[in-house]
Formats: sequence, C-alpha cells, structure tokens
Amino acid sequence: MITVGIITVSDRASAGEYEDHGGPAVRAACQERGWEVIAEAVVPDDISRIQQSVRAFSAQGCGLVLTTGGTGIADRDVTPEAIRAIMRVEIPGFGETMRMRSLAITPNAILSRSLAAIVDQSLVIALPGKPSGAVECLSFVEGAIPHSVKLARKEPTSC
Ligand code: MTE
Repeated sequence: MITVGIITVSDRASAGEYEDHGGPAVRAACQERGWEVIAEAVVPDDISRIQQSVRAFSAQGCGLVLTTGGTGIADRDVTPEAIRAIMRVEIPGFGETMRMRSLAITPNAILSRSLAAIVDQSLVIALPGKPSGAVECLSFVEGAIPHSVKLARKEPTSC
C-alpha cells in the first residue's frame, strides 16, 4: 500500500483567498489508484514552510509526498528550490517525462520545473499547480512510483 501526503503550494489558497482545487484533484487521482492519502496541507509559496511539510509528512510515514504548485517561473515559485535544498538525490527522469509528455497537451508545459527527488524516506514529486496538469503529470510517471517508493523506504525490491 502506498501512503501519500499531498501539499498544495499556493499563497492565495493558503490565505483562504480561493478554494484549493489542486489538492482535492490529486487526492482523487491517488484514491482511484488505490493509494491511501494520510496527510494533506495547504502552504504558502515559502521555502521553509514547504520543507517543513515535506519532512513532517515523510516522518509521518508517507512513502510518497506529492506537491502541487509553485513549479513555474513567477517570482514566488520556489517549490523546486525548497525540495532541492533538502533532497538526497534528484530523479531527473520524472521531470523529463512530465515535461515531454505534457508538451503534447500544451506548449506552456515547458515552463514547469516539475521534478522528483528522495527526501528522507520518501519519494517527493513536485507537480504543476493547475489541477488537470497535476493529474496529467502524475499519470505520466505513475508506472515508476511503486518501485521508487520501495527504494525510498528501503524496502526489498525485485530488481
Ligand atoms: N502540464 C500539464 N500536463 N498540463 C498543464 O496544463 N500547465 C503549465 C505547466 N505544466 C500545464 C502543465 C503551466 S501553464 C505552467 S505556468 C507550469 O506548469 C507551472 O505551473 P505552476 O507554477 O502552477 O506549478
């Protein structure tokens, strides 16, 4: 069973200025796949707050931590920087695949600096903020998630 933590990264959603649609969309996508969502948070575009949430969810037992938002190039977009500052290793194939497959949907996909990394005992995947984009990107890399989560958790694997 894959246990998941979901973090919506958005100044406006965390301030209550608008409803968070990204987190619920990602949650539904996880539940469709039979994964168990055990933690959710909405945080501002702030490096420390993002890092604290990722680490707290990892300590809580989330083998997979999904963030949505803050991967672009706006002034406040710092999700990749937050994750890279605490990761053990990045897994570039995730970001490459998400961008490559998303480009078939929208040319703006090139703007997303989406990525995956191992932080503590978790696979962390930074998805774009648009709910449909987040779910699309998750679907493009889902095949590699179970094996990556096992490796992150140092569980036995078949290869
Ligand atoms: N990827 C997919 N699959 N679908 C999308 O609609 N939107 C793009 C991109 N990636 C999109 C996508 C857009 S418009 C932006 S600005 C970037 O993700 C960054 O989004 P973020 O800053 O909300 O994370």
